[in-house]
Amino acid sequence: MASYLDQNSRTHMCGDLRAANEGDTVTLFGWVANTRDLGGLLFADLRDRTGIVQVRFDPDYNTDALEAAKALRNEWCVAIEGKVVSRGENTTDKLATGEVEVLAHHLEVFSKSKTPPFPIRDNTDASEMLRLEYRYLDLRRGPLQQSLVTRSRVNMIVRNYLEENGFLEIETPFLTKSTPEGARDYLVPSRVHPGQFYALPQSPQIFKQLLMISGYDRYFQIVRCFRDEDLRADRQPEFTQIDMELSFVTAEDVISVCEGMMRKVFKKILDIDLDASFERLSYDEAMRRFGVDNPDLRFGLEITDLGEHVKDSSFKVFADTIAGGGVVRALCVKGGNDALSRKDINGLEDFVKIYGAKGLAWSKVNADGWSGGVSKFFSDDERAAIAQATGAEAGDLLLMVAAKESVTCASLGQLRKKLGADLGLIDESEFKFCWVVDFPMFEYDEEEGRYYAMHHPFTSPLPEYFDSLEEDPDAARAQAYDLVLNGNEVAGGSIRIHREDVQWKVFGLLGLTEEEARAKFGFLLDALTYGTPPHGGIAFGMDRLIMLLTGAPSLRDVIAFPKTQRASDLMCKAPSPVDLLQLDELHLRPHGKALLAASEEEGQEDEEA
Ligand code: AMO
Ligand code: AMP
Repeated sequence: MASYLDQNSRTHMCGDLRAANEGDTVTLFGWVANTRDLGGLLFADLRDRTGIVQVRFDPDYNTDALEAAKALRNEWCVAIEGKVVSRGENTTDKLATGEVEVLAHHLEVFSKSKTPPFPIRDNTDASEMLRLEYRYLDLRRGPLQQSLVTRSRVNMIVRNYLEENGFLEIETPFLTKSTPEGARDYLVPSRVHPGQFYALPQSPQIFKQLLMISGYDRYFQIVRCFRDEDLRADRQPEFTQIDMELSFVTAEDVISVCEGMMRKVFKKILDIDLDASFERLSYDEAMRRFGVDNPDLRFGLEITDLGEHVKDSSFKVFADTIAGGGVVRALCVKGGNDALSRKDINGLEDFVKIYGAKGLAWSKVNADGWSGGVSKFFSDDERAAIAQATGAEAGDLLLMVAAKESVTCASLGQLRKKLGADLGLIDESEFKFCWVVDFPMFEYDEEEGRYYAMHHPFTSPLPEYFDSLEEDPDAARAQAYDLVLNGNEVAGGSIRIHREDVQWKVFGLLGLTEEEARAKFGFLLDALTYGTPPHGGIAFGMDRLIMLLTGAPSLRDVIAFPKTQRASDLMCKAPSPVDLLQLDELHLRPHGKALLAASEEEGQEDEEA
């Protein structure tokens, strides 16, 4: 018999078969997920990227097929022809195809498989290191296949939406010059220009602004960005942005395009109708109420300022902190007296210390008064005022930090997120978007004694700060906006500076001399002098968005070939040492210490994905 392949005869995908197909003769191509030989009868689960269906090899139906099936092993790649029949009382809801099975009358083996290093199952206990080494096998597992299918669909939805809204998809270079997003660059040595380097883009920021100057009005690109920074579960060294830039717009226009795009994506992917417009918080309000600029609004547990009530406290730490210009703020944990033990509270104290707090003061609010922790320091009036401010009632636990404002915000903000998760305050099925707007223009780095742009140096201040920028840089607020989803920054952008004088003021405040600015971005500065439209844009973190849409725990679960926490690809073993000849061609000389480190590292694996 000719191969099923030659006849191009695949009729169905495994995961698509349902009761409505009963009686159909089907040909399926896929991988053997599992076999169960019950003496006379043999069952095999067949898997393709749509799911799994059970195949029955039955001596009463076809003995040749049964004989051939006895050789089958896991992960062999095969074709199976058979008839779709009901599973009757053996129907299972564990599989989407669980009402039916395929009664096989022919089997063709396309290729055999070695025993895989770990079983290919939806729930696996294989280590992530091993799975990343054999990523092509890991990618056969259902959850990863579903993530990548979702990712592909989001790509299409976004492209269609932006095209309908007048955007052009334009590619920008990867071999380029350093872009100002604040991370370290990945550099590529030039062979033809000895001693010179390209930088891989941290984002297409400068190019998309140039495209606006060139008159393309609305640009987008689903684009890879490269940042050499310390990695976490929500950061990869190369990641994908949905990058946009628009001319003749205000922040409102950009926000409205993004809300429309998210509504479309959530409707099509999850059948969820998002609100017509998302909640908005100023940066200052987000920091005051939630301690962070990416608040998770799926639960309350807001931060309360106690300054007014404890400024004369007999607890010296509180009174002194306020006298010294710091703040005292609190979380009121509803029912926290029972939910959290002394040991838990000690653990929370260690947790806030990570963020610079010196300690965590606490009080239990009971029906007959306050107890424990710093309770003894408070007068009745102070207790009444604190209870009023925080809404504390019998059974609640007050957790308080006294420090300078940035430390109090960070420690209570992170503590709030931790308690939200630990105490089960979060409804995991909910999606809460919010815009955080009016960011400060600058962040002051005390160690270096200089200002950094909070977004990037092309971000425009709100017009009311144009003239006062230099006198009071700390007060200046930017036309910058972040989109936050369930406590994750999924997009960030701004209206750009299109007035040359304002751009020079900003560079000045960032400590860039005219010479330095010209060396870094001369071409953009020149371009800005040739009729620049008012413009602005935004970029979404595509990987983060897909992670949240699919509920995946890490970015690695939504990227086909991700890197580890230490930026390695365990499958193709990158990075890796190169031929000395190759280095020579690139005019690079191997550094003795680096060579030694490379030879020591070779063969060693990352300890942690
Ligand atoms: P920004 O630096 O805020 O803005 O990046 C935009 C979005 O990209 C995602 N992101 C990342 N995702 C995974 N791994 C990383 N290492 C990583 N870094 C950032 C985040 C973030 O919100 N050019 C500007 C945008 C603009 O102003 O238009 C920019 O790149 O979700
Ligand atoms: P101490 O008097 O240092 O033993 O601290 C008494 C309590 O106050 C302990 O629970 C400390 O964790 C807490 N504490 C100390 N410093 C601070 C601070 N800056 N903010 C909040 N609590 C603090």
